[in-house]
Amino acid sequence: MQRNLVVWLLIGAVCLVNSVNCQFLFVRAGGNTEDVEFRMPRLTSLIGRLSNTTFGLIRGGVTLFARTIDRIVNTFGRIEDRIRALLEELRKRILRGIPELNIPILDPLHINRVDFDVQQQSLRFKGHLENVTVKHISKFNVAELALKDLNGWNFRLDLNITFPFLKGTGMYDFDGLVGKNFHVFGNGPFWVNLMDLSVQTSTVIKFELTRLRVTDMKINIKLRKLENYFDNLLNDEETGQLINRMISKIAPEAIDLLWPEIRQPIEKQVVNYVNAILENTTVASVVRRLFNVV
Ligand SMILES: *[C@@H]1O[C@H](CO)[C@@H](O)[C@H](O)[C@H]1NC(C)=O
Ligand SMILES: *[C@@H]1O[C@H](CO)[C@@H](O)[C@H](O)[C@H]1NC(C)=O
Ligand SMILES: *[C@@H]1O[C@H](CO)[C@@H](O)[C@H](O)[C@H]1NC(C)=O
Ligand SMILES: *[C@@H]1O[C@H](CO)[C@@H](O)[C@H](O)[C@H]1NC(C)=O
Repeated sequence: MQRNLVVWLLIGAVCLVNSVNCQFLFVRAGGNTEDVEFRMPRLTSLIGRLSNTTFGLIRGGVTLFARTIDRIVNTFGRIEDRIRALLEELRKRILRGIPELNIPILDPLHINRVDFDVQQQSLRFKGHLENVTVKHISKFNVAELALKDLNGWNFRLDLNITFPFLKGTGMYDFDGLVGKNFHVFGNGPFWVNLMDLSVQTSTVIKFELTRLRVTDMKINIKLRKLENYFDNLLNDEETGQLINRMISKIAPEAIDLLWPEIRQPIEKQVVNYVNAILENTTVASVVRRLFNVV
């Protein structure tokens, strides 16, 4: 049901943007009501790629942060304040990078290639982005940070990080079908501006006798506004403009609609990833100190 709604939203947005082409797209994209399972096979490699960079940052960061952690733990009594201070520290590291440890500057973040493959009845979409630069990651705001003691050495950490303005540029190449036979394709340069992208996480951490691990994590994503331009869409200037405006228009709603369907595998990946990091005794002891569980 929701999937079809996305297609109808898409058609609706096209109608809004350009009433002349409305009828035309309506006929081509409409009439698709099958309800099939949503698959996103390539998303795992996307997460893997991003994780590698982040993992490097955290791994290398631990030794380098040793003195910083001391300072934070000694300065702040409340765990929330310590986490906030740690995030501030991270903001600086993201900007500078740590060449000695081979950790790149993460703002701007450079991604060589991201493959994606969305296979779903009303939206089939395959392609990649290349030579992508993302700017302003370090300008995040911590909109929410709350810790709850759930007893039995379980803590729940609620964190909402908002990126007021992210700018991405690079090259794209994709080919897809919207509905049964509306063909969307193109390759060339692109830019996107994301306004108020927020990531809200609710994480349950369990401290055990010798280790600690994440037992549950919920992730929510919201995007207030997207501006974009994919050059050379459909090899046609005019239609390209139309599709670009349509993408801008539907992006926030499309994320709201699709996120509930794809969140579970992503949450699972992130939990596995974080737990893999927590396996490291050095990392675990830092977290124990931050949480006063020593
Ligand atoms: C992540 O790093 C591991 C080990 O260095 C490597 O085997 C793997 O291919 C990398 N994954 C991606 C997506 O780059
Ligand atoms: C844990 O991380 C530290 C700091 O990066 C590293 O020196 C150590 O080798 C790691 N230990 C294990 C068991 O992976
Ligand atoms: C990658 O992007 C940078 C700037 O964003 C540009 O200077 C460079 O030429 C690009 N490289 C390729 C291979 O497109
Ligand atoms: C995060 O907080 C901001 C500001 O309070 C809010 O607008 C946004 O919707 C929140 N994000 C999520 C995913 O809940």
